[in-house]
Amino acid sequence: MKILSGIQPTGRFHWGNYFGAIRQYIALQGHEQSFYFIADLHALTTVREPHVLRQNVKDAALDLLALGLDPQRATLFRQSDVPETTELTWLLMTIAQMHLLEKCHAFKDKKAKGIAADAGLFTYPVLMAADILIYDSTTVPVGADQIQHVEVTRDLAQRFNTIYGDTLHLPEAYVLDDSAKVPGRDGEKMSKSYDNIIPIFETPKKLGKMIMSIKTDSTSKESSKNPDTCSVFELYKLFATPEAQMTLTERYRAGGMGYGEAKQALYEAAIAHFETAFARRTQLETSPDIVEDILREGAHRARAKAQEVLERVRAACGLLAKPV
Ligand code: ADP
Ligand code: TRP
Repeated sequence: MKILSGIQPTGRFHWGNYFGAIRQYIALQGHEQSFYFIADLHALTTVREPHVLRQNVKDAALDLLALGLDPQRATLFRQSDVPETTELTWLLMTIAQMHLLEKCHAFKDKKAKGIAADAGLFTYPVLMAADILIYDSTTVPVGADQIQHVEVTRDLAQRFNTIYGDTLHLPEAYVLDDSAKVPGRDGEKMSKSYDNIIPIFETPKKLGKMIMSIKTDSTSKESSKNPDTCSVFELYKLFATPEAQMTLTERYRAGGMGYGEAKQALYEAAIAHFETAFARRTQLETSPDIVEDILREGAHRARAKAQEVLERVRAACGLLAKPV
């Protein structure tokens, strides 16, 4: 399998990103090709402050490495370090039909709300297709919201192949398990757009405060409680062993336990779960050169493959395989 996925550096990674995506990327590393990149070019469609983008990219790299992305088993790089991708984006754009892009949800949603979209947002899926096709990727781990973009990638590859002959490989989406959408502090889906996130790397004090602010119902301490409708319990399940889940379920049902105690259990489980990652992140923070070297080495490996594919594509459409 030739795996490729990207994640946008648009804010601090949170528990939803971890359980819904990052943890699964890490589980998939070690294949014939395991490429993961920080999608800084895509982030430019929303992040317009240079210092914020720079910081977000640094944080994204630190977070991914601290959480277990292993540069020996996977290639981690910045999207913008592989300029071949933007060249392929243009070549794909020349064959991309307007109607295909008009139905893509990011653009469609904005248009429906009457918000003016720029060309970057409109052509976002073409850049994503180039990201995927430039490495001959076979397998693209994505959340359900990105399946449409992998379909567009397949359509573009197919159309290119029909026009210019067999050149690009059609990838498959590998849909990540987000069947249990991670709830945020307000009980809705955790997302940075809803201001309800719990960041992975937060100081214990702030983490404690955030956990204490998770919305619960007004059942009194004495009453029996239903774990199946409680966000605190839903989050606890992500961290706890089946035995620990059973113990807390019994305490919910028995009554006599306030939500504060359940939140304390969640806090302790989260701290224990991320303990190693915290230690690794603290260590990496003191050696920014190591992180930079990993990204540089990753880009080097990714570019070698990207150049090979781009030469094939350039030649297929009548350009010189390599510019003079
Ligand atoms: P956000 O919603 O905070 O903007 P992104 O859209 O950048 O997050 O998501 C990056 C990845 O994390 C995607 O693959 C997405 O499916 C996953 N993800 C984000 N939030 C959640 C959540 N609450 N539950 C499960 N997966 C999530
Ligand atoms: N659009 C993806 C997201 O928002 C990020 C992304 C960019 C991506 N290029 C990609 C994911 C290529 C998979 C493959 O989550």
